Amino acid sequence: MHIALVSAECAPLAKAGGLGDFVQGLAGELARQGERVEVILPAYDSLHLSALPTPQPLALTLKVPFRGSLIDCQLLSLSLDGYDCRLIAPHTPQRFFQRGRIYGEPDDAERFAFFSRAVVEYVTQPTVRPDVLHCNDWQTGLIPVLLTDQNARLPTCYSLHNVGYQGWVAAELLEWVGLDLAYWLTAERLAVAGDPHRANLMQGGIVAADVVNTVSPRYAWEIQNTEQGMGLQPLLHRHRYKFGGILNGIDATVWNPLTDVQIAAHFGPETLPRKALNRQALRVRCGLAETDTRPILAVVSRLDRQKGVDLIAHGLQRGLAYGAQIVLLGSALEPAIADRFAALQTHWATHPHVHLELSYDETLAHLIYAGADMILIPSLYEPCGLTQLIAMRYGTVPIARRVGGLADTIQDANYSTAPFLARNGYLFDEPTREALDEALARAITLWREHPAYFSQLRLNGMRADYSWQQPARAYRALYEYALQAQVC
Ligand code: ADP
Ligand code: GLC
Repeated sequence: MHIALVSAECAPLAKAGGLGDFVQGLAGELARQGERVEVILPAYDSLHLSALPTPQPLALTLKVPFRGSLIDCQLLSLSLDGYDCRLIAPHTPQRFFQRGRIYGEPDDAERFAFFSRAVVEYVTQPTVRPDVLHCNDWQTGLIPVLLTDQNARLPTCYSLHNVGYQGWVAAELLEWVGLDLAYWLTAERLAVAGDPHRANLMQGGIVAADVVNTVSPRYAWEIQNTEQGMGLQPLLHRHRYKFGGILNGIDATVWNPLTDVQIAAHFGPETLPRKALNRQALRVRCGLAETDTRPILAVVSRLDRQKGVDLIAHGLQRGLAYGAQIVLLGSALEPAIADRFAALQTHWATHPHVHLELSYDETLAHLIYAGADMILIPSLYEPCGLTQLIAMRYGTVPIARRVGGLADTIQDANYSTAPFLARNGYLFDEPTREALDEALARAITLWREHPAYFSQLRLNGMRADYSWQQPARAYRALYEYALQAQVC
C-alpha cells in the first residue's frame, strides 16, 4: 500500500511535542512492515537537518490556488528511516514557513490552510496519487474536506491528537482555499455553533474523512462522552460508526537505553544497576548535590494548561518536601505560564536539590528519562502521552493522572487489577493536590523503604512492549477500512 502521512510535525526534522514522535515512529514502522510511505511536511526554515541528507528538489512544481492567486510551490525530498519525506516550499510574500518555528504565529490558520490546499494539489497529481492519505490534527483537517469537495475519491484517515486545539478560524479562510461557504459552512459540516463567522477545521476533518481515530481507546471514550470532547461530543457521536482509538507506540530505536547515544551509560533490564551512572550524570548536568538518599523526581513537558501546570508546580514543592531531588525540563508558549515557572526557577536558583530548565532540549530530555527515578505527569487531559512510555522504557516510574492514554498504559502498583509483574507506576483520579500527594507519597515511600520492590516496578515497565509494531498493524487495518469505505 502507498500511504501518504500529512502532518505539521515529524521528528527529528520538526518536533514541538508528541505529534512529531508519532509521525516518525509510525512512518518508520509502516515502512519496516513493507508499506511505501511518504511523509508530507511544510518546508520550515527551522528543520533540524544536521546529520541528515540535504533535501533535493523534485522535478515537480505545483501551482496552488489560494486567496485568488496561483502560488508556485517547489517540492523537496529526502529519505529518512525507510520512507521519503516531501517538503512543500511555497514562494509567497508572507514567507509562510520561514518564521523560525512551527507554531505560535498570528496567521497559523492561514499558513496551514495554505499547506492543506498545496497537499491536495500534490496528492492528486496522477504520478503521485497514494492509496490512502493519513491526516493529523487541526492543521490538516481541511484536506479530507477539499478532497471530498473535488470528488477526488482518495481514501482518507484523520487522527485526532488533541481536541483542545480544533482550528477555530475565520470563515473566509474556506473561501481562500476554494470552498463554497453556502455548502460547507453549515452546522453539520464546518460551522461553529452560535458564530456564523467562524469555521472549525477539525470538525471538517471528522465529517469528511473516511475513518477517524484518536490516539488511545480511553480518550476516544472521553471525547465522545465527557466535556473532554470540548464541544465535539455530539459530532463524534454522530460519526462513531467510523471512529475509534488506537494506542500510540514509541520508536524503539530512538528510545532505547541500550543504544541511546544521548545518555551517559547504556543499560537494559539485565543491567539495571548501570542506570545509576545516568543518575550521576544527570546530577552533574543539573548541578544537583550528590546523594544516595534522595530519588530524582522529574518533569519533561510542554508547560501548557493541558499538562496540569498548577499540579506540576505543586508536585515539585511536595516532592522536595517528601525528600526527592527535582528536575524539570519545560517549554511554555503562554507568557503567564512561562513567567510563573521563571519565578519558581529564581526562587530555587541556588537550591542543591532542585533544577528547573525552561527550554526545549532533546538531549537533556534523553538524559532525564535515563537518570530520573520517577516522572510526574498530572495532566488535566492526555490523548495518549508518550512521556510515560518513554520513561518506562528507561526504568523511570510514572506518577500520573488516570486520564486518556495515561490510564490505558499505566497499571497502578497498589490498586491495579493487573498481575503484579505488569504493574508499572502510580495513578491518581482527581485533579487535586491531595490526590497527587497520595500517589507521590506511595512512590517515594516504596523507593526509600523497599528498593527491591521499586526496582521490580522499573523492570515491569522496561520489559513491556510499547513499540510501534502492534499499533502500525492497527493503522494498516484502519487504512484497509478506509479503502473499503470508498468502494462500498
Ligand atoms: P504532547 O505531545 O502533548 O506534548 P507527549 O507525551 O505525547 O505530549 O509527547 C511529548 C514529547 O515531547 C516527548 O517526546 C517529550 O520527550 C518531548 N518534550 C516535551 N517537552 C519537552 C522539552 N521541554 N524538551 C524536550 N523534549 C520535550
Ligand atoms: C498530542 C497529545 C499527546 C499525544 C500526542 C501524539 O500532542 O497531547 O497526548 O501523545 O499528541 O499522539
